[in-house]
Amino acid sequence: MNKIIGLLFISLALLTACKQDKKGEGITPSKAEIILENIHNRKSVRDYIPGKAVTDEELDKLLKAGMAAPSGQNKQPWEILVINEREILDKLAEGLPYGKMLTKAPMAIIVCGDTIKSNYWYLDCSLVSQNILLAAEAMGLGAVWTAAYPYEDRIAVIRSLIDIPAHVTPLNVIPVGHPKGEHQPKEKWDDTKIHRNKW
Ligand SMILES: Cc1cc2nc3c(=O)[nH]c(=O)nc-3n(C[C@H](O)[C@H](O)[C@H](O)COP(=O)(O)O)c2cc1C
Repeated sequence: MNKIIGLLFISLALLTACKQDKKGEGITPSKAEIILENIHNRKSVRDYIPGKAVTDEELDKLLKAGMAAPSGQNKQPWEILVINEREILDKLAEGLPYGKMLTKAPMAIIVCGDTIKSNYWYLDCSLVSQNILLAAEAMGLGAVWTAAYPYEDRIAVIRSLIDIPAHVTPLNVIPVGHPKGEHQPKEKWDDTKIHRNKW
């Protein structure tokens, strides 16, 4: 009897240790593995399912992920524009040389920096942008960074459409939508770029 109870106990312990997923298809990945997988799966997506909107709930998650970014001296010098008016999106696409995919996107996020608040504004806003891109990947959305700063002509295009205060500069325009087609992340790992203790 003791032997049976012992065996039952070991089986239960093994089952718990293996953390079988709900479908019993294998070992549930750890939180770290899920997050790392998301980082490695992130890719620029430039084609979106026409007419499929990003919901308010999805947008809220993207914006909150963005604002969770670190910033120099915690100054948080970001200001974020949300664009979902078709006319503005199309005019942005027309004016931005590498932003033509905006004609297909249901919305875009423009990450701007307060240049008075911090000299690091473009670094801090880059981290906001990366958080948004990673959150989009995690939520099955597609997004891509399209550059505004440091190009004066592109910044002027955005300023001509939206009345942004002079001390605030748009860093980028991030179209967001539901990915159309298959998109694969690029392989970037290159161990020759790692320098351990000496160059
Ligand atoms: C600073 C910066 C500027 C970029 N500008 C543009 C752009 O104007 N248009 C565009 O289609 N992609 C732009 N990209 C996206 C890059 O082309 C893309 O990240 C790169 O090719 C690597 O591909 P991946 O994002 O799929 O890993 C930009 C990315 C960064 C970080």
